[in-house]
Amino acid sequence: MRTFGMWGTPIVRDPNAVSPETLEDLRALVLREDARQRGTKIGTFNASKTESDLLVLSDPPLKVLRDAIVEIEGRMLSALRIEHEVTGRGVLAEAWGVVYHDWGFHRVHSHHDSAWSGVLYVDMGDSRDEDGQIEFLDPRPSACARHPGQPAVTTIKPATGEMILFPSWLEHWVTPHQGTRPRIVIAFNLGYGVAA
Ligand SMILES: [Fe+2]
Repeated sequence: MRTFGMWGTPIVRDPNAVSPETLEDLRALVLREDARQRGTKIGTFNASKTESDLLVLSDPPLKVLRDAIVEIEGRMLSALRIEHEVTGRGVLAEAWGVVYHDWGFHRVHSHHDSAWSGVLYVDMGDSRDEDGQIEFLDPRPSACARHPGQPAVTTIKPATGEMILFPSWLEHWVTPHQGTRPRIVIAFNLGYGVAA
């Protein structure tokens, strides 16, 4: 007889994923790439995305970003005790910047073609406390009927510098940013290659 977890929904939070200096560099980099207007606006309102190729650019701060992504991925694997499942498989990652302007938000979605997805909050802008939050929907739609004290939506209000990681299939959205200084994030997807 064997028991195994099916639909666990772990979320890892790292409040200080990179240094303030790196955040400044990444902020400038996202704005630079955003100005090229190569990305899609799918799913967003009053926000724009860069192309999802940030990690292949040669800017040194992106090496720091990649290291932080690999570190939080390691934290997730060890928390779930599933490191052995990806032994010998290379990590594949892509990242893109998102710039939210006044009233900018992101509609409900999940991420495709990846195992884990995450966000680095580069600059939360001048939004009010209750704005610019990320909200996750419980993947078990009926769970709240039996556990009324357990909300169907989990809300995270990240601070500048925080990085989060969650399963890519988990549905989520971003509440409107209300402020004149843009809210800037770097989102990323992470998956694995085929074992050698
Ligand atoms: Fe997302």
